[in-house]
Amino acid sequence: MNEFEAKRSLAGERILLGVSGGIAAYKAAELVRRLRDADAEVRVVLTEAAAHFVGAATFQALSGHPVRSSLWDPAAEAAMGHIELARWATRVVIAPASADVIAKLAHGHANDLLSTLCLVTTAQLTLAPAMNNRMWWHPATQANVATLCERGAQLIGPDDGSQACGEFGPGRLVEPDAIVRALIASRVPSGSGPLAGQRVLVSAGPTYEDLDPVRYLGNRSSGKMGFALAAAAAELGADVTLIAGPVALPTPAGVRRIDVRRAVEMCDAALSALPQDIYIGAAAVADYMPARTATDKIKKPILDQGSDAASRNSGLTLDLVRTPDILAEIAAHPQRPRLVVGFAAETGNLAESAREKLQRKRVDAIAANRVGVEGCGFDCDSNALSVFWAGGEAELGPASKTQVARDLLLLLLDRLPAARA
Ligand code: PMT
Repeated sequence: MNEFEAKRSLAGERILLGVSGGIAAYKAAELVRRLRDADAEVRVVLTEAAAHFVGAATFQALSGHPVRSSLWDPAAEAAMGHIELARWATRVVIAPASADVIAKLAHGHANDLLSTLCLVTTAQLTLAPAMNNRMWWHPATQANVATLCERGAQLIGPDDGSQACGEFGPGRLVEPDAIVRALIASRVPSGSGPLAGQRVLVSAGPTYEDLDPVRYLGNRSSGKMGFALAAAAAELGADVTLIAGPVALPTPAGVRRIDVRRAVEMCDAALSALPQDIYIGAAAVADYMPARTATDKIKKPILDQGSDAASRNSGLTLDLVRTPDILAEIAAHPQRPRLVVGFAAETGNLAESAREKLQRKRVDAIAANRVGVEGCGFDCDSNALSVFWAGGEAELGPASKTQVARDLLLLLLDRLPAARA
């Protein structure tokens, strides 16, 4: 394993995983496995509350080491005292980090094993919060998180979405795989890796074209493919800017994110971000937008009982106009990035359509994916790509979007000289 490959894993890291109380504690068991898969050594500390959710035996079996949960355990203190444990760790990762643990750490409490260890250690502290969304938004929690981040803590998440309590919003624990990726990404010092020194601009997600204050034209893009590309480019050492349509995904570690809604906003953001070395257009940009956005909600005609069938069946005609073709504009721009890569979402003849887009949009490569097929394309975690460029083509996947994103970047670096600085 060379130095760069080692940095793409967690080899050599001794991770003290603090698990605090909350339903997401069950995901910490999976996290232990993922950390060990990434070659980290793991020891687990449970808070008293966490032990109500998942038993120590689970973590002991997965980590291969006894689990610690009390400051007052003479046997454990005799084996590896808490000061020694704090010194042993190269990283302290708390996942899930409850509102209570975050508050304790922000205020320097040392009234249980985990908070005491955090006061003693000099290792990098990483927090992956999980709690009810209103607890997350509470000014006390926000202030505590800000305090810890100012002191250098790394924050991973929380994710947005449906919560165990039945509510919806930010507060979900980031998935274990994504936590591991963020830890790996934060290991690669900026300025190292095969994309070091390169500026990479990625677009991701859908665009929403507003019809009126309550309705829009959109599509099923979740942003996962583009976010995976941004994360992979950052892992490879690039300086990454991610232009994201309306999606509910956490920003990958080390990535600069610009949120937009409409195609024209995405286009403005992309052109304003030039000059760049590489552009990858993974966003599903709307091809058409309403000619006008109504300022008031569009009302349907009120029909009375005497209305004839023609009035009852009358439809609504939308007047649509083309959106800017961001990919083509970037490819034709005086500050054109050295490498411009488009995506193509296809249902028919994939190769023919992709090659046609390659030429018409004057881009260096097109990564085409089939849509409408299970496990590929929109709103799923995996994908398969057929990549076309002037001198050849290659197949990637099926695999997770994370894997496909890495493989695409490595393929571009390998086959297209313009990808290399
Ligand atoms: O977001 P996910 O749920 O993970 O799904 C991923 C994905 C299916 C959206 C992604 O893999 C993908 O295929 N993205 C491109 C979808 C698309 O819009 O394809 P297209 O064939 O319509 O467009 C071709 C290219 O032109 C794309 O690079 C697109 O970003 C770009 N384009 C299109 C229209 C427009 N007005 N401006 C553009 O830049």
